[in-house]
Amino acid sequence: MILPTEVTIVEVGPRDGLQNEPGVVPTEVKVGFIDRLARTGLRVVEATSFVSPKWVPQLADAAEVLAGIDPVEGVRYPVLVPNEKGLDRALEAGMREIAVFAAASEAFSERNLGRGIDASLEMFAPVVRRAGEAGLRVRGYVSMVCGCPYQGDVPIGDVRAVTTALLELGCDEISLGDTIGVGTPGQVNTLVEALASDADLDRLAVHLHDTYGQGLANCFAAFDAGITIADTSAGGLGGCPYAKGATGNLATEDLVYALHGSGVTTGVDLEALLDTTAWMAGQLGRAPVSLAARALLTRRDAP
Ligand code: HMG
Ligand code: MG
Repeated sequence: MILPTEVTIVEVGPRDGLQNEPGVVPTEVKVGFIDRLARTGLRVVEATSFVSPKWVPQLADAAEVLAGIDPVEGVRYPVLVPNEKGLDRALEAGMREIAVFAAASEAFSERNLGRGIDASLEMFAPVVRRAGEAGLRVRGYVSMVCGCPYQGDVPIGDVRAVTTALLELGCDEISLGDTIGVGTPGQVNTLVEALASDADLDRLAVHLHDTYGQGLANCFAAFDAGITIADTSAGGLGGCPYAKGATGNLATEDLVYALHGSGVTTGVDLEALLDTTAWMAGQLGRAPVSLAARALLTRRDAP
């Protein structure tokens, strides 16, 4: 297996994790979570979304959250933005990095954005253009790259088409989302190898939900194919409100434990990350789903 020497982790817990909580997490808890994560050595913490509060009430306090955090020098805080209204809100909040989010499945695009793929790209075009003019970094997500709960199989050609379209709009980086965690290592490896002919591998990331317990294996299959950027959530928080059956992202602890054990650098202090996950578990009133976090916290508590 070929592994990179260094992996960049994009922590998505405050956004992908908290958008899926059954209740609304208090603003000060979100702020505390982001500030703790940003002090663990993580270089990117996706903080929140400027989406319609009618669609995702859990993140309606995006501006208040961003006004409350104490930014760490050198840490990036991207936010999700679906349309120009979202971009205006992000610019007003002083954000320097945004993410638009498309899908490789028409059916999911309709459910997540209220419009099909082409119409979603039309919605993103002025967002990406204006963001670029304002000097913002723009990430583009492609959801359902390994399968869709509404459509079933998603052809690799459809993933390639949306990836290429987002790059042509001007996205700096594309994150490939296995939104419902159905992918397998062979599939992810093949997918990344196919996409390598459309984009430089250092502009591609993987965003793997762990619904079927494949997240870590899939992530390593992506590394083996040349990927060096992976999205994870502390404790394994998360899911997607518009993707039936999707559970959390691959847990940050699971990935950091596996990478450090394999001699790969992440810059993350695993002990500080565990402190954060334990604190957040206390706030949410339930244990983290991350197996590495559970094991390490149990060992820490042992006499
Ligand atoms: P719409 O209803 O078609 O849009 O929503 P609209 O223009 O008709 O607006 C409806 C209302 O929302 C209006 O308010 C707008 O002003 C307001 P009203 O006039 O009724 O009072 N509105 C907004 N308010 C604040 N900020 C905004 C905004 N936009 C409209 N930006 C829209 C279209 C795209 C906005 C909606 O479908 C939406 O917000 N969707 C987001 C859904 C979402 O956040 N999903 C989860 C994130 S994606 C994900 O999790 C996958 C990912 O993790 C990768 C993976 O796992 O694969 C990224
Ligand atoms: Mg996701």
